[in-house]
Parts: sequence; C-alpha cells; structure tokens
Amino acid sequence: MVRAADLVYRALYRGLFSRLPERMAVALGQWGLRHLPLDRLTAFRRDDPRLRVSLGGIALANPLILSSMYYDTAILRRAMGLGFGAVTAKSITGSPRPGHPHPNLVRIETAEGPGLVNCNGFRNPGLEAYRRALAALPHRVPLIVAAAGESADEYARVVAGLEAFGALVEINISSPNTKLVYEWSSRPAELGALFRAVRAATAKPIIVKVSPDFRDVNEERIIPAALDAGITIVNCGNTRRVDEPRLSQRTGGLSGPALFRNTVDNVRRLRDRFGAALQIIATGGIDAPDKAREALDAGATACAYFTGFITRGPILARLILDHLLTVRP
Ligand SMILES: Cc1cc2nc3c(=O)[nH]c(=O)nc-3n(C[C@H](O)[C@H](O)[C@H](O)COP(=O)(O)O)c2cc1C
Repeated sequence: MVRAADLVYRALYRGLFSRLPERMAVALGQWGLRHLPLDRLTAFRRDDPRLRVSLGGIALANPLILSSMYYDTAILRRAMGLGFGAVTAKSITGSPRPGHPHPNLVRIETAEGPGLVNCNGFRNPGLEAYRRALAALPHRVPLIVAAAGESADEYARVVAGLEAFGALVEINISSPNTKLVYEWSSRPAELGALFRAVRAATAKPIIVKVSPDFRDVNEERIIPAALDAGITIVNCGNTRRVDEPRLSQRTGGLSGPALFRNTVDNVRRLRDRFGAALQIIATGGIDAPDKAREALDAGATACAYFTGFITRGPILARLILDHLLTVRP
C-alpha cells in the first residue's frame, strides 16, 4: 500500500502537477487536500515509540514537522493525520495581508531536483480572523502557530493572540518575500528587544526561524540573543532569496533540494557551537528519507519540510518514518 501510494503520487506529479500552470496545480492540490480523506488511511502514518522526540518539552510522536505554508484549517486538519509529529500554520501578521500578486509561485528545476520559488508575501487573514479559525481546529498532533510582523510590538501581539491555539510558537524573522521580515537579520541589534518581547508574551516554547542567507549573523548575533532571552529552539531555516524574473516581484524564496547541503552544514555547525543548549529543527530541501536521516544524524532534534510534501506527496512522511526505523532500531 505504501509503495503503491508512492508510485501513484510520482506518476501524478510527473504527469499532471508538474505540467499544469503553477496556479492551477496549487488549486488542484489544495482541493485534493481539503476533500480527499487521506488522513483516514493508516498507510500515511507510522506510530512507534522509538520515533518519539521532545521539542521544547512538548512530546511529538515523531521528529517530522510540516513546515509553515498553509493557513487553511481544513488543510492543517488533514495534514495532522498524514504522519507528521507536528504541523506548522502559516506565519500570521497583526492585520490581514493580501500578499503579492500572481505570479507568486513558480516551479524550478535545479541540479539537485525539483524546487519552488515563491513571493507569496504573507497572504493571510490577520490575527483576529485567524484566532476564530483556529478555535475550531482540533489538534490530532501538536500545532505550531507562527507569527511575523514589522515591529517587536506586532510580533508580541500576534504571539499573545495565537499562543492559546498552539503547543509551540514560531517567530518568522526570515521570509525573503517582504522587507518587513527579511530585514530583521540585517538589524540584529534590534532582535534582543524583539526576543524579550515575545518571550514575555507567552509561556509556550518559542522557535525562532532563521534565514540560510545570514549564516554568520545567525551564529554570532541572532541565536545568542535568542538564548539570552530564553528562546532555546532554532529552525534553520527559511527559503533562500534569489532573483526570479517570472515572479511579480522579480525576486523570491527558493525552496527544495538545492537548499539541502547548506541545511545540514548549518545544523552541524550550530550543534557544535551551541551544544545541548539549543534544539534545532532542520528545514530546507528535505525531500527523501535518507535526507531526513542525515539531518537528524547531524544533530537536528526534528526536521521539517514543505516542498517535499508537494514534489513527493503526502506519502513522504511515512517513507521517512519507515526509513528512520530501519536505521535506528
Ligand atoms: C509558497 C510558500 C509559502 C511559505 N510561507 C511561509 C510562511 O508563511 N512562513 C514561514 O516561516 N515559511 C514559509 N515558507 C517556507 C517554508 O516553511 C520552508 O521553510 C522552506 O520552503 C524551506 O523548506 P523546503 O525546502 O522543505 O520547502 C513558505 C514556502 C513556500 C514554498
């Protein structure tokens, strides 16, 4: 059944999703996620006590996390039954944002395999509407709520407003699509105040999501400031900023396997430098079972992916979990 689901999705991706115009492929994929009850099939999950991990003191059934992208709670609800140990919601801002106009997502073929470039620009319903949506979402696995903003006050307000609905809270200081978030990494001196403000806004474990474009600043300034403020989980990381003339903004965030080598290097460096004081989520290019294993072996506490969910389908989580159990008996 698992092998059949893998083969069917590969054929579907090659024959349909990778050929349709991106906007149509996204609409079709999201329609499928909303309406096909895949989460009722046990083939998409694997429950085994050997897979359990603790992230910020929260017990996860396994170390796989769906990375931040979806805000639709019908999709998040479905994803919670598709093998992940935790699911991340999209980064939410204080007020609704329309996002950038189309085209805001394109496929890209890189030497390492299929990826995406997006300039989504934080299309989201804003804090108040999202609180109402989240109130109706049951938590089959822990939900990670995510915040973005233009000021420390906005982050703190969004964190305080969302924290009741998540087991953990992620603060996104790294999406390259809008100046407001990406620019935090060029102003690391201001991040101490932001970290203290969000730390005061919630007692839940906080994850800071950093950019692969700022390796030295992450290591020398941002992560030490987070640890000083009592934030002990880092997600490395977000998409990498690239020029992409097909997008409405002519620039966007690259995701997918081209990021992977750098992701593993970052995990290894952060583990060496910060030791057990820091928990690390490896994100960027994990789209195959051996890559998840490599990231965990390099020192990651958990690993997250989004592009792999699209290019390899919902069965990828199960394939990874099976693989982790063969190499970690
Ligand atoms: C269309 C799209 C939207 C995304 N939206 C968010 C977001 O709202 N917040 C965030 O922290 N990351 C966002 N990301 C980044 C992913 O969560 C992830 O960090 C990145 O894609 C790298 O992982 P991957 O190679 O497994 O996709 C988005 C990525 C894509 C492709």
